[in-house]
Amino acid sequence: MTQDQKKQAVGEAAIKFVTDDCVIGVGTGSTVHYFISALEKVKHKIKGAVSSSDDSTKKLEAMGIEVFDLNSVDSFDIYVDGADEITKHKHMIKGGGAALTREKIVSAVAKKFVCIIDDSKQVPVLGAFPLPVEVIPMARSYVARELVKLGGDPEYRQGVVTDNGNVILDVHNLKILNPVELEKQINHIPGVVTNGLFAIRAADIVLVATDSEVIEIE
Ligand code: A5P
Repeated sequence: MTQDQKKQAVGEAAIKFVTDDCVIGVGTGSTVHYFISALEKVKHKIKGAVSSSDDSTKKLEAMGIEVFDLNSVDSFDIYVDGADEITKHKHMIKGGGAALTREKIVSAVAKKFVCIIDDSKQVPVLGAFPLPVEVIPMARSYVARELVKLGGDPEYRQGVVTDNGNVILDVHNLKILNPVELEKQINHIPGVVTNGLFAIRAADIVLVATDSEVIEIE
């Protein structure tokens, strides 16, 4: 199977988490794209969605699925999203598509985070994928200097502005042995909106597409 076929398989498999009259939390990215397409079959039973990006909102609305403002939703059961890397502890790096802040907010409100990945995303240690950090534009250089002090090699993601009007620094060469601690440390730097470590709130369920099947890890 190609990576794209695996993304499709796992996106379609996640449809089983859609229940009658539910509000579904929807992430961002190419794997989630297949999940959104698969919602076509079950959209009649969904009350609506909350979305983590303008891109996913557009796709959902184009299918006739109502997208609620997160402020109008107290809680919902399931948030479905991809990841750039994930460990056996279900700690993740996310934000390759620059949607990390809204992803972190929407997933925080969900009762369960269902992470959908192809098996290339499974790693023993996080950090080979550069860690995205969303930064208020005026703080970019200061935050970059602070990230160097933490042992990273930050690179400004040229030409990218997030849905929140901020910029992204991708931090290379980190070997992340304590993701919970690093997530807190980076978020304490003034000017950082959030970073792409999802460790304080890890995934609850992981669906992994391999060459032959989709495996569920709880
Ligand atoms: C979006 O900002 C990201 O967090 C994505 O969820 C992550 O990059 C996975 O994307 P793909 O499914 O496209 O690999």
